[in-house]
Amino acid sequence: MQFFADTAEIEDIKKLHAMGLLDGITTNPSLIAKSGRQFKEVIKEICSVVPGPVSAEVASIDYDTMMKEGHVLAKLADNVVVKVPLTVDGLRACKSLSSEGIKVNVTLCFSPNQALLAAKCGATYISPFLGRLDDINLDGVELIEQIRQIYDNYSFTTQILAASIRTPNHVTQVALAGSDVATIPPAVIYKLADHPLTKAGLDAFVKDWKATGQSIL
Ligand code: E4P
Repeated sequence: MQFFADTAEIEDIKKLHAMGLLDGITTNPSLIAKSGRQFKEVIKEICSVVPGPVSAEVASIDYDTMMKEGHVLAKLADNVVVKVPLTVDGLRACKSLSSEGIKVNVTLCFSPNQALLAAKCGATYISPFLGRLDDINLDGVELIEQIRQIYDNYSFTTQILAASIRTPNHVTQVALAGSDVATIPPAVIYKLADHPLTKAGLDAFVKDWKATGQSIL
């Protein structure tokens, strides 16, 4: 499963990229607002750090303006993926942009039928939002399983990009469900390394090593 970081914070991106953990990046208007930076400037900087796909989302909701914005965003760097919302206008834009060879990530997916539409409209990625489904007492992981089944039944090549991931357990579950990609907030990526037995074991090794009075260097 590929790891994308779900953030527009360049310092986090540089650190995770240096560890070799990042296959790509996703952003959205809320993450751009949180960064406090100019949208196009931050996307260009992210694309210069991470060679993999970087999702940049259109801000408009009508087809004509989405197309204009999509063309501007696609020109920012070769690895930009244009992100459009899962609406009828967004699906139209997905089809048109994809036909021009521009990669498209269809976002705000909450049902198997929406994912089916995105695949039929040529999406490179579909972004089902797990956490937001879990927030309203629905099953986000089940949605990933259903989309996996549908895409495999018909050999759709659209990649499942599990989004709105909130916990390490979400990461395990979407990997088990066969998601192609998980886009994960940096704080959750770091948490994947945590285990209480690792911490307890290391604490004991540090204490015992200190008691030997030795030094490796
Ligand atoms: C995906 O591309 C979105 O940016 C993101 O995963 C949304 O996550 P949230 O529901 O935690 O805001």
